[in-house]
Formats: sequence, structure tokens, C-alpha cells
Amino acid sequence: MCGIVGFAGKRPAAPFLLDGLSKLEYRGYDSAGIAVFCDKIRTVKSQGRLADLRAKVDTVSHLDGTLGIGHTRWATHGAPNDINSHPHTSMSGRVSIVHNGIIENYIPLKQELEAAGVVFRSETDTEVVAQLFDYYYEGDMIDTLIRVIGRIRGSYALGILCSDHPDQLVAVRKDSPLIIGLGEGENYIASDIPAVLEHTRDYYLLEDNEIAILKADSVELLDLNKNPVHHDVYTVTYDISAAEKGGYEYFMMKEIMEQPRAMRTCIGSRLTENGEVKLDKIRLTEEQIRNIGRIHIVACGSAWHAGIVAKYVIEEMTRIPVEVDLASEFRYRRPILSRNDLCITISQSGETADTLAALREARANDVHVLSIVNAVGSSIARESDDVLYTMAGPEIAVATTKGYSTQLAVIYLIALKFAAIRKTLKPARIQELTQALINLPDQIEALTKMDQRLREMATENADKNDVFIIGRGIDYGASMESSLKLKEISYVHSEAYAAGELKHGTISLIEDGSLVIAVATQDALYEKLVSNVKEIKARGAHVIAIVKEGCTDVEEVADEVIYIPSTDDLYTSSLTVIPMQLFAYYVAIARGCDVDKPRNLAKSVTVE
Ligand code: F6R
Repeated sequence: MCGIVGFAGKRPAAPFLLDGLSKLEYRGYDSAGIAVFCDKIRTVKSQGRLADLRAKVDTVSHLDGTLGIGHTRWATHGAPNDINSHPHTSMSGRVSIVHNGIIENYIPLKQELEAAGVVFRSETDTEVVAQLFDYYYEGDMIDTLIRVIGRIRGSYALGILCSDHPDQLVAVRKDSPLIIGLGEGENYIASDIPAVLEHTRDYYLLEDNEIAILKADSVELLDLNKNPVHHDVYTVTYDISAAEKGGYEYFMMKEIMEQPRAMRTCIGSRLTENGEVKLDKIRLTEEQIRNIGRIHIVACGSAWHAGIVAKYVIEEMTRIPVEVDLASEFRYRRPILSRNDLCITISQSGETADTLAALREARANDVHVLSIVNAVGSSIARESDDVLYTMAGPEIAVATTKGYSTQLAVIYLIALKFAAIRKTLKPARIQELTQALINLPDQIEALTKMDQRLREMATENADKNDVFIIGRGIDYGASMESSLKLKEISYVHSEAYAAGELKHGTISLIEDGSLVIAVATQDALYEKLVSNVKEIKARGAHVIAIVKEGCTDVEEVADEVIYIPSTDDLYTSSLTVIPMQLFAYYVAIARGCDVDKPRNLAKSVTVE
């Protein structure tokens, strides 16, 4: 969701800005722009893709300044057009701003400035910040910024240029991600690491309401009282190729194929030689684990789907009651929380606004928060009492794949650890489950090799407009994730349904040629699911069944069958999702969709 880059150096800024923005494309955007200080601040903006912006930049001469900011915009306030895209310039042309987030009180501020004679050009909330900054400006950018921050409400990561200070770029953030990249004779700001990775591996993470002043040879960090702030330098540990496509047509396919390796890292690093789970260095004590009364899992989207599966797994293994909430609901519903509850938040990006707010709500109620996060050093990771990283490496495609898989892996590890501490499973059963966990990466790898078969199946079914994915128990949870994959990247309407619920209404939608995918991996529920498939077949649907190896009798009722390797019933979601990711991917390809950047979607949802 919106990408910010900024550059203070000794070489032309524009090439860095355009390349940096291209590395942030995955976040989702519908217009883009850059501003470079030359003899004055020069701005080039364009609706559409970065290629359109590059074409415009090519027509502008003397865009060779060494200080600049850039932005990819995901429209919130006002249509995605040239005027509403960032950077926004103040009426005098002195101030230029890029912004990620939402200024909640922009309307009264705008009215106030208009009453003072300021003329606005765009419909955006961001322009208010540029105009307010210019309005308050009396020669010192930091004093001005502190005054502006005192007036604006909401979330923001801001990059600011002022033509009176041609050698400095100023940045600040609150509830919206921003990193400060540290180069040799140049420094950068960016919403995310891939934008600067070609130039540096070292960066600072700004905390809320900290200000960064970047010049070619220095970076200064200040708090709102203008006191210096010290931060450790983070160093990116993953290889730069991890953020590149590596020969695949789309990041999504690369990330699907990376799942076995990601799972091996995530699981392997948390098992001792004796096969015991060690959960990094978490603060949660064994005593606290023994006393947990209830677990609240809070997340959004696919991470919430991982939470649904987690409920089945954790309750079964530990007998701790688990509630799963959408973060956007949890934060406003006044949840009933007790001190010996545990809140688990799940987030790939670690920046999802609703999940972050839910986490704060839990902590404000003295509930210990353990977060499952992929992005190291992200806001959710930093604000949690404990964090378990999924170690999946950077995920660039908007639709999550390896992020989701590794979230499940961490959930299994948590459940095993808690079960061992609370003695809710016999040692032999823990051993059996641990071995099944160790086997998962190889089994996932075997499934990724079904690539071609899934391609054919998807191509044959790519004209379907409605797809129902049904399952019972854990399979219902897995169906939700499969359905979202199909919806978000191929734009095929799809619904996940608890198979037992079909008869209560939805079955009326099933007709000749409807596509139904039936997930039936749970031994205890298998026959019931097969009966559901028979009912659906009788109404003319085309049925693809996903079952465990050996369940060949389903071939008599389903039109096509996908077999997953045999695993413990508690872990099947990790396997059923693989063919469904591939199926969704190939349906999207067959329908000519931009797999990595689905329409209207953003990778990191940093606003409510
Ligand atoms: C779907 C998808 C989203 C995210 C959701 C939460 O493929 O990726 O539904 O799961 O936006 O994002 P994170 O995990 O970053 O909090």
C-alpha cells in the first residue's frame, strides 16, 4: 500500500527513485511520481504504471538533481489521476511531500487553510500536510515539522523536501513503515527494504514520531523535542536474489516453489537434536504457559485463515480454548480479556494497521502478546511481548503463499511446545507429531512438482465464474485460504463453505457445470464429505476432490482427484493449500491476470 522512496546523495536522484519504486511495485499502486530538487523542486507524476512515469520522466530535461522523493500511490482520498498522485507540492512550490497513511483530520485542516487563502489542487489528505508545512514554515524544517505533527491526526510516513534546504531530506513516521537506508556518500528512505537493497544492506528503523534528517554524508535522528535518538543499525541478512524473480515469470510462482525451503528453515531451526521444540528466546514462561486460560488469535486475510486452522490444531493438542478474531473486528468489539489469556497475532508484513491496533488493545489490557511475523523489525514484531519469526524471506507477490505456509508451521510448533509443557499429549504422540512435522517440507516439495497437472486442470476450468470450495473441520479452514487465493488473483468468484452447511441454503446455487472443490483429508469426516459430494454431483456440478493418498474410492464420485501425501490429520492444511495455490495461479494466467499485482490490492495494508 503506497510506496515511498527518497534519496540524498551526490549523483542524480531520479534513477534511484524510479528503480526504488519499481522494487515497491508489489505493494500495489495506481499512480506514481517523483520530485527532484534541481534549480527548484521539479515534479513528474503519472496515473497508471511506472512505465508511464518513466516515459514522462524521459521527456523532462535537467532532472539531474541529487536530492529527491518518489511515491507509488494506492488511491484512498480521490481518484487515481495525475493530480492526486504524489509528491504533493505546496501552493508556493517550496515544499514537496510524499505520504503513506491517512490524515484523519484533513477536512478541518483544509478548511482552515482555505480560509487563510491557501488554494488546493488535489482531493487528497496528503496535500493538506504540504500546504500546512509551507504555511507554518519560518526557515527551519524541523521546527515546522514538529508543529505540523502537533496538528495532524492519523497514520503517516512522510518524506519532505523544502527548496530552501537543497541538501536535506526530512522524514518522519507514525503507524506506517519507513526505513532509513545507510549508503556510502548517499542515504535513503523507503517503505520497505527491497527498494534500497541494491545500494545498501544497512538501515535504521524509525520509531513512531521520530524524525530523520538525511544528507549525502549524514543521517541524524531526533525525537519531537529535538533530542538526538540513537538506534542500532540493522543489517539485511537475506541474499539480494531473494527479492528478485530468479527466472520465474512471477514472484508468486517463485514463492510457491520456495515453500519447501522456507518450511525447512522455519521448522528445522526450532527442533533440538532430540526432536524437542525450542521456541527462540520468548519471555513467556512455562509457568505462564501452564496457566493460560484462553488464547485469542487476531489477524487479517490469509493470516486470519492460518488462525482458523490454528484453532483446530491448538485446541486439539493443548485443550486451551481458542478464539479467532478478524483484527478489524477485535479492535472495536471490546473483547473480554483476562490477565492469564494469551493473544497471538499473525502477520506476514508485520505492518497491518488493524492487527497492530488489535495488538495494542490486548497489551493495554495486560494480555501477553506473542506474534507470528515474517518481516523482521516490523512494527508488530517490535511492539509484541514475544515474536516468532516465520523466516520465509521477503514475500513480494501480493497473494501470500510461503508466508501462510510458514505461519502454519509456527502454529504447529507452538501447539507442540504448549502440549509438552501442559502434558496434554503423551510423549509418544508428541514424537509422532514432531516426525510428521519434519516430513512436511519434503511432502510440500512433492506437491509443487504437480505443477503441470494443475496447469491443465486450471486451464480447463478457467472459464468458470463461480467456484465452491467445501470442507469440514480443518479442511474448512484450508478451504477459506484456497478460496481467497482464487478470488484475489484470478477474479473468479469463489466461496468456501463448511460442507455440512451447504444444505442450509447454498446448495440452491449448484447447477449443471458449477465447479466444486471438495477437500476431504480428515479421516473422521471423510465419509460425510463423500456423501456431500454425491449430493452435489446429483445437481450437475463438476467436482474436484482433494484427499489423502489411498482414498481412491472417491474416484467413483468425483470427476477429478488430487492426492496429497499422507500426514497427520492436524497438518493437512499445509498440503492441501499447495495444489490450490497452483490452481489459482494457473487460472489467473489463463484469464490473463497480473498475478503478482492483482487489481485494487496492496501487499501491506497499513490503513484501516
Ligand atoms: C492474501 C493476503 C492478505 C494478507 C492480509 C494480512 O493473499 O496476503 O489477505 O494475508 O492482508 O496481511 P499480513 O499478513 O501482512 O498482516
